[in-house]
Amino acid sequence: MIHLNNVRKFYGALEVIKGVDVTVEDGEFAVFVGPSGCGKSTLLRMIAGLEGIDSGDLVLNGTRINDVPPDKRGIAMVFQSYALYPHMTVAENIGFSLSLKKVAPAEIRRQVEEVAEILQLGELLDRRPGALSGGQRQRVAIGRAIIKKPALILFDEPLSNLDSALRVQMRAELQRLHRELSATVVYVTHDQVEAMTMADKIVVLNQGTVAQVGPPMDLYHRPDNEFVATFIGSPKMNILPVAVTRESADRAHIAGPLGMSFVLADASLSEGPARMGVRPEHIKVVDTQAAHFVAEVAIVERLGVETYLTVGSIEQPIVVRVEGDVTFRPGDRVPFAAETTACHIFSPDGRILRSAKAA
Ligand SMILES: Nc1ncnc2c1ncn2[C@@H]1O[C@H](COP(=O)(O)OP(=O)(O)OP(=O)(O)O)[C@@H](O)[C@H]1O
Ligand SMILES: [Mg+2]
Repeated sequence: MIHLNNVRKFYGALEVIKGVDVTVEDGEFAVFVGPSGCGKSTLLRMIAGLEGIDSGDLVLNGTRINDVPPDKRGIAMVFQSYALYPHMTVAENIGFSLSLKKVAPAEIRRQVEEVAEILQLGELLDRRPGALSGGQRQRVAIGRAIIKKPALILFDEPLSNLDSALRVQMRAELQRLHRELSATVVYVTHDQVEAMTMADKIVVLNQGTVAQVGPPMDLYHRPDNEFVATFIGSPKMNILPVAVTRESADRAHIAGPLGMSFVLADASLSEGPARMGVRPEHIKVVDTQAAHFVAEVAIVERLGVETYLTVGSIEQPIVVRVEGDVTFRPGDRVPFAAETTACHIFSPDGRILRSAKAA
């Protein structure tokens, strides 16, 4: 188990990691995700021991390792740029750390073959990196890391140099590898799709702080704040400025842009300005009498099984997911309703006030 307790990091006067608390359990696949510059790589490098920790504790299996040098931590790291040795074969690249430790050649060969088997590199052991595809090179870089039998493997955006088809394939391979090694993984990416598809636990970072920690679908359905709500999910959750008024003790009225007006079963929201979050799949085309708002279709994006409509105005676009074969065209005026059980209400500064399905 790796535990970060109120960990901080400064570059000069600039605080880039602002008191992070995170626990990753043994065998867990944890993904740290967030926009560029939020501190993902810095945090990972602090775990690896490549960056110092200014305050707080880094605890690995019960031992504080803040001051343990990188090579004594039993942690391996795979970087985005995987810099293999070009003059060495795949086998020599994978076995390099063992040859540095003067392990006997036959034993190195045995361990290299074991790793190559897991990574499906068996046929390629005598090739040089120049004669490999991007995905194969990435697997060699992973092989170089796992041959050390680390208790913890850190990945920093390992797939960002690969094309999209190969990324999808490598996502599946990394998950398989994680299962086979039963290793603990901390994986850094700015890509929320990678986080959603691979993680047991997602840690969303925002400007050096933890915005939320949880399993993928928890973050998707019950974000703690507007940042997580709009970061997780594609297309993004729609966020609309609304005004809340009380209809009765257990009913709140919501008024929003485009003449939006409807009632939520709710006993807790107080009156005033707020922000409503609703995902594209939770807005439905309805009969005019049932409409919460009527909006003009601006863009129709057909993806086959589903179609995304962008409706409303340039100042206030709303994205709606509809069936693939709908016949809407730009310029059509269409009545819509939000699924009221799936509406999130945030405070003007982005804190969650009412979660979806809370009613
Ligand atoms: N050596 C350094 N000196 C000063 N500031 C730094 C240094 N390294 C990183 N930073 C700053 O620290 C912040 C976090 O950087 P970091 O590399 O951890 O971001 P990241 O989340 O990995 O971003 P990306 O997705 O672009 O890789 C950024 O604002 C960056 O400019
Ligand atoms: Mg980075």
